[in-house]
Amino acid sequence: MELTTTLSEHVRTRLARAERIAVLTGAGISAESGVPTFRDPDGLWARFRPEELASMEGFLANPERVWQWYQHRRHVLESVQPNPAHRALVQLENLVGEVIIITQNVDRLHQRAGSHRVLELHGNLEDNYCSACGRPYCDDGSADDRLPPRCPSCGGLIRPAVVWFGEPLPADVFAAAERAARRAEVFLVVGTSCQVYPAAALPQIAWECGATIIEINPLPKPIGSIAHAVLPHKAGSALPALVEHIAWLRATGGTEQTTLPQR
Ligand code: APR
Repeated sequence: MELTTTLSEHVRTRLARAERIAVLTGAGISAESGVPTFRDPDGLWARFRPEELASMEGFLANPERVWQWYQHRRHVLESVQPNPAHRALVQLENLVGEVIIITQNVDRLHQRAGSHRVLELHGNLEDNYCSACGRPYCDDGSADDRLPPRCPSCGGLIRPAVVWFGEPLPADVFAAAERAARRAEVFLVVGTSCQVYPAAALPQIAWECGATIIEINPLPKPIGSIAHAVLPHKAGSALPALVEHIAWLRATGGTEQTTLPQR
């Protein structure tokens, strides 16, 4: 993979010295693991209607269809693995004092790769809870065969622990994400279309607080105007190259104009 992006001296200096890096990830970082994105031409929203499958209204209108769709997405996850992009962020933790991953993804591939500080803005696909009383739900095999399962406490419909359109993000998680964006010296934006708020506001917040913004996306997005560097490549190759470059900068104090290692 030909990575010939030249990094400015400003970006190189920040990468060499930063002790706090925050990373906003979207579906694109999991694409090379085989997890479909949402807004690419072959993405989920090209085939399904988000209002029918990713909203409380859609769930209440057809609970079984929504439950089965999430069961299908869970099934897909059973056969996928973290890819080199996820693993590069784990390596980054060994180079930099504080690496906080702020993910919009619900696939838990960051955690499976070994990342330690992951903020899940949109929940996760592993857990479920009762849509009526909110109690966490664990399938102990005692449920009857109705789909979705019913809450053993109140009989309510069980739903996946993901944040649907029109629902608030977990307040504590978003507050931590905003804090991480404000503190970051370098803010990586990896594999997201930056179209869904409030997650999409985080790069701007980081930029306003003085962070160096680097975007990794084969089709760079609107944040281009605040990005100090854009790597128009897939995360599976660009992130390992970037982390390798950070290691080299810190090992050698690399000061001459450089291009990312050829891969
Ligand atoms: N490497 C890096 N980026 C990639 C790759 C890749 N291999 N493949 C695709 N991309 C980029 C696309 O160019 C696109 O900009 O990833 C982005 C994926 O955008 P979306 O599909 O919109 O996913 P995301 O930004 O995570 O969506 C945000 O929207 O539907 C909701 O809850 C859902 O969390 C999701 C949110």
